[in-house]
Amino acid sequence: MNTTVVILAAGLGTRMRSKRAKVLHRAGGMTLVEHVVAAARALTSVERIIVVTGHQADQVEAVLAPQGVLFARQTEQKGTGHALACCREAAKQSGAGPADLLMVLYGDTPLLSAGTLVQLRDAQAESDAGATLITTSLDDPTGYGRVLLDDRGSVLQIVEQKAASPDQLDIRLINSGIYCFRSDDLWSHIGEIEPNAASGELYLTDVAEILTRHGHRVQNFYVEDSSELMGINTRVELADADRTLRARKAQDLMLAGVTIEKPETVSIDTHVHVGIDTVIEPFTRLLGNTSIGEDCRIGAGAVIESSFIADNVVIAPYTLIADSRVETGAQVGPFARMRMGADAGPDSRIGNFVELKKTRLGAGSKSQHLAYLGDSEIGDHVNIGAGTITCNYDGEAKHTTTIGADAFVGSNSTLVAPIEIGAGSYIGAGSVITNTVPPETLALGRARQVLNADWIARRKRLKASKPKS
Ligand code: UD1
Ligand code: CA
Repeated sequence: MNTTVVILAAGLGTRMRSKRAKVLHRAGGMTLVEHVVAAARALTSVERIIVVTGHQADQVEAVLAPQGVLFARQTEQKGTGHALACCREAAKQSGAGPADLLMVLYGDTPLLSAGTLVQLRDAQAESDAGATLITTSLDDPTGYGRVLLDDRGSVLQIVEQKAASPDQLDIRLINSGIYCFRSDDLWSHIGEIEPNAASGELYLTDVAEILTRHGHRVQNFYVEDSSELMGINTRVELADADRTLRARKAQDLMLAGVTIEKPETVSIDTHVHVGIDTVIEPFTRLLGNTSIGEDCRIGAGAVIESSFIADNVVIAPYTLIADSRVETGAQVGPFARMRMGADAGPDSRIGNFVELKKTRLGAGSKSQHLAYLGDSEIGDHVNIGAGTITCNYDGEAKHTTTIGADAFVGSNSTLVAPIEIGAGSYIGAGSVITNTVPPETLALGRARQVLNADWIARRKRLKASKPKS
């Protein structure tokens, strides 16, 4: 059976109190609407996914562009019923048949799983109903539409919080906002929704009553576990959803062979990959499309974003890595920083208070303490002494530093770029290097030390000869 999924994502999200559209807020490292699209895409035999956009439509569409979904615009936000009506043309294209299904999801329900959507579709497909609605029971139903059933258990009516009588407010059966309609029944009657008396909006929830009135039963699909049905209206709920998504991710990783110490303290984005037997210490953040290999240790408080970490790597505590690579057997940190395409070669060592920016550190090379290495190409088995600085910026442009294999850069060296330091060369500690150093050469770029054996004695004599005041 041909299924179209429509995701409503045009609303402002007033209760978020935000300049940004609600569906663009993030939980678990993805925008809310991306989560919903991911659940819809995981459904098999879906003909098309249409996202209704409106408020900040350009931004919402830009975020979803890589997903291959269609868009329909709701130029004025006149309610969920109106939003769905806005995609009528898009949904009718490509000759949908009368028995075809139209699933409607809201863009603010990020915890939804594809499995639940499959069950919903099957329940509708196997029934004679005009629509099937997912409901659940909540201890605190505040804010949700309450569902009224007839004596055979079908949905009679959905009453929104604002319109509910005190008796109706006590009802704990709520509308999840996840529906599966028979397309023809929906499109025949969607025009009958009247503006809500209080808000003037067209509520999609009124369709339940309308279909029932026309003799099309609305089936109640009750879900026991309400955890994945949560709709996000406020930042408090956003934090709840984020916590749930991250707990799920940590659990998935642990079941797949990753050790996580105090999993409730780590934040791991949905798309992060971690290999087996890696140990993740407390309070780490693994973000974006980060990939971590097997047998690694990720130290407490490390933040790794959009980076590739190979096997057998140690990232010591409080290290920041963004858009960078750490290759097999390397050790980075504690308190190190890598950014903008930095690359730590196999078995290299990067120690505390070392920053690498757009720099490749070759295999087995070491920079163990206090250094800034920017725009540099550093060969294999190079030793960078403590306090080494590449002066990559002259106030106008950035320049590169090249250091050949097996070079030894003494402590507190200042390498003024653009500069080339030959393979196997040796830079004396404290040097300021401004000219090319050929291979296998000692370079000293500092004043020579002066020794004066008389100086102390002379000073003592001078002091003694002065009258005491
Ligand atoms: C809605 C339901 C409520 C249900 C709850 C479940 C209605 C009238 N009420 O309430 O019964 O219990 O969801 O979470 O449907 N949107 C548009 N255009 C609009 C208005 C909203 O696209 O003009 C989109 C929003 O971007 C959002 C979704 O529809 O993704 C739901 O809107 P929201 O305002 O959050 O509805 P609720 O008040 O939560
Ligand atoms: Ca909502």
